[in-house]
Amino acid sequence: MGSERKNVNHLLRLALCAFAVLFPLTLSAQEVAWKTGPEAAAIERRIDGLLKQMTLEEKVGQLHLSGRGDGFDITQIKSGRMGAVMNFVVPAEVLEVQKAARTTRLKIPLIIGLDAVHGFSTYFPLPLGQASTWDPKLIEEAAYWTGREASAAGINWTFAPMVDISRDPRWGRVLEGAGEDAYLGSVVAAARTRGYQRGGVATSVKHFVGYGAGEAGRDYNSTWIPTSQLFDLHLPPFKASFEAGSMTAMAAFNALNGLPATAHRGMLTDLLRGKWGFKGFVTSDFGSITELRLHGIARDDAEAARKALLAGIDMDMMGDVYHKHLAAEVKAGRVPMKALDEAVRRVLRVKFHLGLFERPDVDPAAAPALMQTQAAREVALKAAQDGAMLLKNANETLPIGPAVKSVAVIGAMARPEDERVWTDPAGLGRRVVQALPEALKERLPADVSVAYEPAFTKACGTEFADKDAAIRTAAASDVIVAMLGEDCEFMGEGASRTKLDLPGVQQELLEALVATGKPVVLVLATGRPLVLTWADAHVAAILQTFHGGTEGRNAIADILTGKVNPSGRVPMSFPRSVGQIPVYYDHLPTGRPQKIRQRYESIFIDEANEALYPFGHGLSYTRFSYANARVSKPAMPLNGSVEVSVDVTNAGSRDGQEVVQLYIRQPVASRSRPVRELKGFAKPMLRAGETRTVRFKLDAASLGAHDEAGRYTVEPGDIEIYLGGSSLTSVMTQVTLTKS
Ligand code: NOJ
Repeated sequence: MGSERKNVNHLLRLALCAFAVLFPLTLSAQEVAWKTGPEAAAIERRIDGLLKQMTLEEKVGQLHLSGRGDGFDITQIKSGRMGAVMNFVVPAEVLEVQKAARTTRLKIPLIIGLDAVHGFSTYFPLPLGQASTWDPKLIEEAAYWTGREASAAGINWTFAPMVDISRDPRWGRVLEGAGEDAYLGSVVAAARTRGYQRGGVATSVKHFVGYGAGEAGRDYNSTWIPTSQLFDLHLPPFKASFEAGSMTAMAAFNALNGLPATAHRGMLTDLLRGKWGFKGFVTSDFGSITELRLHGIARDDAEAARKALLAGIDMDMMGDVYHKHLAAEVKAGRVPMKALDEAVRRVLRVKFHLGLFERPDVDPAAAPALMQTQAAREVALKAAQDGAMLLKNANETLPIGPAVKSVAVIGAMARPEDERVWTDPAGLGRRVVQALPEALKERLPADVSVAYEPAFTKACGTEFADKDAAIRTAAASDVIVAMLGEDCEFMGEGASRTKLDLPGVQQELLEALVATGKPVVLVLATGRPLVLTWADAHVAAILQTFHGGTEGRNAIADILTGKVNPSGRVPMSFPRSVGQIPVYYDHLPTGRPQKIRQRYESIFIDEANEALYPFGHGLSYTRFSYANARVSKPAMPLNGSVEVSVDVTNAGSRDGQEVVQLYIRQPVASRSRPVRELKGFAKPMLRAGETRTVRFKLDAASLGAHDEAGRYTVEPGDIEIYLGGSSLTSVMTQVTLTKS
């Protein structure tokens, strides 16, 4: 989607760069949410009225989503042939298109969409980096400010959150999701949905469904997902988002078990509308209706349009297929008017519930005051601080201590000049982003020198600028901070990789830095878990971020200098080698488990089974210990619940946040159950020396699983409960599920 991005980048940057001064907040966000009762009934009557007046062409127009850029034709809006637009980000332009819609006969407002994936003007960490905070309130706030900034520019719809679960870091889009786990993914999906919609934009939860399971991690590739796994792993975050009120959804590009998701009536209609009762609309992904031809299920665009509409796709994003063919399909009787009306009804319903008919236009003059406010930046800073994961810290290398008198910061990633935002066609990038050397200098004592060498021509380190200068500077310092990772073309949509090493010549640099004999602190900004096996064995410390956004480097400096105690936890396992993939914590047991690592056990002969850094892992500058794991009663019925508690002590000498995780396992059931399943977590801040009892309510109803017929059952039997600071914890208690 490179061209989508380019045009918008430039304009938005021009428009917003003019707003150099930060004004205090003056307007409050217009929360969007489903209306209920008489208000909802009145909306249905208004839709009935409109549908009666609309021509066939006007109806089709409501399903046509076109985007700013080459080929955009505003006369289609003026003639009532376009009901939705995307990638308009400059308030004055948003006003212009919205006004154009008001010149039409029926004055139906536009829905205006944008990929505000992890920010609009203020950038928050990439969604995977937000998930690594394990803090739903903070994640909700990040989405709120994104929604609020976007809605202040007149945008009322966002193509987010992406809730695709993925266990394959070869896929470039894992950065847009929340990682490998259904429970964490669902909590994050709900938090982000609430936040965006509270901030004033309707969400489009995506990509329905299975996009994260593309074979070999290759983008847009087919997925094969057994029904049990579809329901236990991939669907829960969608359900959570709808329960949190998501007003729209986006269908996926991929074929799911042989049927393209864009034509999957079973998912889009039977499940989503039928079983789940979803009342909003579903958009296709970018051009995915016309792609039904390439999937081999439609002879031409007319057939593609027909199949998509009848499956349950209400809106055609950038395909021009509904626009060109749907009216003829209806006239020929191949698409019933009733099916068209239903799709139009869903689109109009969202527009009414959003308040678009009543809400005044965006005020371009007021918008600047709402961009990158102090409040939004504070949330961005906290999210970047709390999402950074300390993966290794040998000999307490971090935080940088008083013995250190000189620090060398190496790597062009340390300065934001080259930073691009890969998940967002708005592509605003930063407006104010601190560089790491300066951020460190500000925080370290005056007698500590900070030197900087970029080493590379670009942030992603594809070629050296001056390697020797970097090595000289590094060798002359007490500590080396190497900021490396993925940027540029190496992450995001369309950036699947088979090698998960540091791109370009970064590994060569890292080895040269280690060879100086000085302690190397590796700070990573990537879009996925990379294979860090060499680094883990050779560098002194690793601080992993998933691009921290506007405040990312300030947050890194806070952690390196000890101002902030790291508390991020791994949301997606880090493999030891690409050959291990998929590696995830909640796998099933095997009949030949690894015991002594002999040949006929389920092992690799050339690699360990375990992830390098497992799900839930993350170090702190303090230590936490767990004791007295217990349940409020030894047994509970299948419709009951139990309180699980554990005493958590901060046994170190610094205050710190711990992510207390609760996993379960049912060791004996009618089908194999995972070795661990996350069912709860909390993130308390504990003072040094403090002990806190952390309590969880565990509902029996949440302990079941689906079978291949899609049936969900909770089975009587023992449930092991594990509590601790990672998925490997061995602190355990137990409860028995009884029939009654
Ligand atoms: C394609 C992506 O798959 C989707 O997530 C995004 O919202 C659209 N492009 C629009 O940019």
